[in-house]
Amino acid sequence: MIELQQVGYVHDDDSPWASRALDGISLSIQRGERVLVTGPNGSGKSTLAWVLAGHVAPTEGKAFIDGSPATESVTTTGLLLQHTRLQILAPTVAAEATRYNIDADVHRRSLHALGFDDSILPRKIDEMSLGQQRRVALAGLFARNCPLLVLDEPLAGLDRKSVSQLHAAVDGLPPSTTVVTITHDIEASAPLGTRTITLADGRLVTDSG
Ligand SMILES: Nc1ncnc2c1ncn2[C@@H]1O[C@H](COP(=O)(O)OP(=O)(O)OP(=O)(O)O)[C@@H](O)[C@H]1O
Ligand SMILES: [Mg+2]
Repeated sequence: MIELQQVGYVHDDDSPWASRALDGISLSIQRGERVLVTGPNGSGKSTLAWVLAGHVAPTEGKAFIDGSPATESVTTTGLLLQHTRLQILAPTVAAEATRYNIDADVHRRSLHALGFDDSILPRKIDEMSLGQQRRVALAGLFARNCPLLVLDEPLAGLDRKSVSQLHAAVDGLPPSTTVVTITHDIEASAPLGTRTITLADGRLVTDSG
């Protein structure tokens, strides 16, 4: 389903502040696979997330989703941004469903799966904790029924109960949903993946799959 061929990515390419984030990454991920991506800070995990979800085209090599350039799938992939507040542009939780054109009942069910009740709907995003904001962002993504979800550090800032709720919510996704989870906490993320890819300095160093 996803195929990367010798993917490289240089931020601000052709400028004096060009910065290489990915180098020579080749991998394939099958439909329905649950994959963890880990590695030290600055190893290229978030950049890889953007490439996998089709938000940016690689500056070298090729990225495909179902045989077409990954950027052509950008409206049907779901990317959870590492910086959650940048993801939720609506003023309240309920307004988030309108923004994505999600059916209100589907959105509510998705919020329930992430541990909220209906009292969350009128809440202002700016008055919520980071963990709550992240679960709201995830509920919006899950409700969109994307065939591919790329989650960049979904567990960061979540308490133990929220982590379990997230595990259960991912478990409840259709088996055909491909989920790539970027994480620096491999132990807490273990239930989210059956295959682990490790990056270092923008290169793929291990792939258990
Ligand atoms: N928007 C950007 N502009 C310029 N350089 C960037 C940008 N985003 C990332 N980089 C650089 O690319 C490299 C990889 O960064 P990236 O954010 O992909 O790594 P990461 O593994 O997600 O890091 P972290 O664990 O801190 O989230 C780093 O050297 C970083 O400074
Ligand atoms: Mg990152």
